Amino acid sequence: MPEFRLTLPTASQAQARAPAAGQAEPLCASTDLVECGQAKLFDVLLWGQPARAFALRFDGQVVAYINRCAHVPVELDWQPGEFLDHDKRWIVCAVHGASYEPADGRCVGGPCGRSKLLRVNVAEQAGWVSWYASNDIRPVLPAVPLAVSSDPESPP
Ligand code: FES
Repeated sequence: MPEFRLTLPTASQAQARAPAAGQAEPLCASTDLVECGQAKLFDVLLWGQPARAFALRFDGQVVAYINRCAHVPVELDWQPGEFLDHDKRWIVCAVHGASYEPADGRCVGGPCGRSKLLRVNVAEQAGWVSWYASNDIRPVLPAVPLAVSSDPESPP
């Protein structure tokens, strides 16, 4: 019976796969983000840890932030992708009602004080919305394939 051996990638191999800061990451079609409509949720790595981000269109512009309240680090949306208040004027945290200016993420009311939402850089071009990695916010890497060898004497 053949013996199988799995080999995980080394740290340097994983690092080589990490996209550079400033690299564009396609997000969605421009038409997917309607004015003050449902946000597009996407997964990122924030300081190396899994986090959720969101992009929405407000006042014609696409803006994106980490989905994390400045009061307590919990997700903001009251339903998945629903961030704006009833009047579609403010981003509101569903937990304690902190209100944020959609255009720049600054706190305008509630228990978030002088804090801001953490912005994710986005751009819209040729009918497509992309977000941009930074030193703090990186894409989630695709699954790393495991090397499999049936010969225990030869490296994969
Ligand atoms: S957790 Fe958002 S206002 Fe308290």
